[in-house]
Amino acid sequence: MPVVRIQDIGAHEGQEVTIEGWIYAKTGKGRLQFLQVRDGTGIIQCVAFKKEIDEESFAAAKSLTQESSVRVTGTVRADDRAPGTPGGFEVGLSNVEVVQISSEYPITPKEHGVEFLSDNRHLWLRSQRQWAIMRIRSTIMRSMREWLDTNGFMEVTTPIITPAAAEGTSTLFEIDYFGDPSYLAQTGQLYNEANMAAFGKVYCFGPTFRAEKSKTRRHLTEFWMIEPEIAFCTLDQLLEVEEQFTEHVVQTVLQQHKAELEILERDTSALEKVTAPFPRITYDEAIELLHKLREEETDPEMKEMLKIEWGDDFGSPHETVLTQQFEKPVFVTGYPTQVKAFYMTPHEDRPEVCYSADLLAPEGYGEVIGGSQRIHDHDQLLAAIKAHDLPVENYEWYLDLRKFGSQPHSGFGMGLERTIAWICGLGHIREASPYPRMLQRNSP
Ligand code: 4AD
Ligand code: MG
Repeated sequence: MPVVRIQDIGAHEGQEVTIEGWIYAKTGKGRLQFLQVRDGTGIIQCVAFKKEIDEESFAAAKSLTQESSVRVTGTVRADDRAPGTPGGFEVGLSNVEVVQISSEYPITPKEHGVEFLSDNRHLWLRSQRQWAIMRIRSTIMRSMREWLDTNGFMEVTTPIITPAAAEGTSTLFEIDYFGDPSYLAQTGQLYNEANMAAFGKVYCFGPTFRAEKSKTRRHLTEFWMIEPEIAFCTLDQLLEVEEQFTEHVVQTVLQQHKAELEILERDTSALEKVTAPFPRITYDEAIELLHKLREEETDPEMKEMLKIEWGDDFGSPHETVLTQQFEKPVFVTGYPTQVKAFYMTPHEDRPEVCYSADLLAPEGYGEVIGGSQRIHDHDQLLAAIKAHDLPVENYEWYLDLRKFGSQPHSGFGMGLERTIAWICGLGHIREASPYPRMLQRNSP
């Protein structure tokens, strides 16, 4: 009997098939046993009717507990009432083979607290909501690569163990590298710039690490980032790449994951609006807008949180109220040089702001992309490294890139889990990672 995966079941109507999977739920009424079987691609109702099945199989069906593994065989038939099945199919069983009877499964259909679920993350992943998020995660990763691969970018990997800090020294995870201090990479960017000079348009995609000491809904200590880097590219040119790339990712999920977005009860109307071009405002304009919004704010607590002066970086509340003013993701450009990384190019005629742009997602999700035009002048970069108190000897190779064929170039990094949280409409970033790492969690 051919083993068929549930996602393909519609092509087998009227045929006898075998499904290998797990019991998601079971209800029984004497001579009828309803098994909700999942196989990783979906859930389908399988019906064991005492009159139509051998005695041994019927007894096996009755003995199944939640998450028991099974091999079931039966005929695919259309049934509009079958819950949760793709296109409304169910299987009339002719054989049930028990592979393992599951011990009492800790995650039952009742409500569980998030700590309990997080402790059982290795099992929680089987639940329908988590299944939907991880399926979308996989498509987001694929669609990111897809867009870059078809637009002339080459994927080059960058190291995780690195001697140099790139995104500030306060969030470094230090490791003892045979007696030498080294760090887990906060970004692949510096190596990306070297790769870019070899291949023109490149990207890296991998795990990055930040010792974020605060507990928020947006921060992980280990997250994935995709980082394109483009030679001979200004910040304005970069933003066009960013908006097309983002549109492709969002629209691909909308096209391919209607069912998953429904499970997540995601209102997709906001996502449908994510088409290039995106609005752009300067940091100066954003500050002015924030002052006005704070003026209008009636909740005293929120008013306090919205306090901001020119030169401050945005916090979550600022990004939230800013993005509420726009239907699409919005670019904020020209941040103060002092709040951004050392490698960003200061404006020629106004060095207190730099050629930087963050992309803020709507509905309060905030920064999903950070990007900039890099300093390409050797002496200016050296001065910036010194001004940030970074040890010049660790950046000699990076400075080389400004000695041998330097040119204006730009790049950005999009956080994978932030993007998933936004597209899936999650209340907390932890659900966007299969095994989230946060301030108070590094297991399972
Ligand atoms: O703005 P960031 O720090 O930029 C960089 O690392 C650049 N080197 C990227 C580049 O130009 N190649 O981080 C980029 C993105 C953020 O916009 C956010 O989406 C995500 O990475 N991010 C985090 N995601 C989850 N948890 C954290 N602690 C994150 N920190 C940054
Ligand atoms: Mg940033």
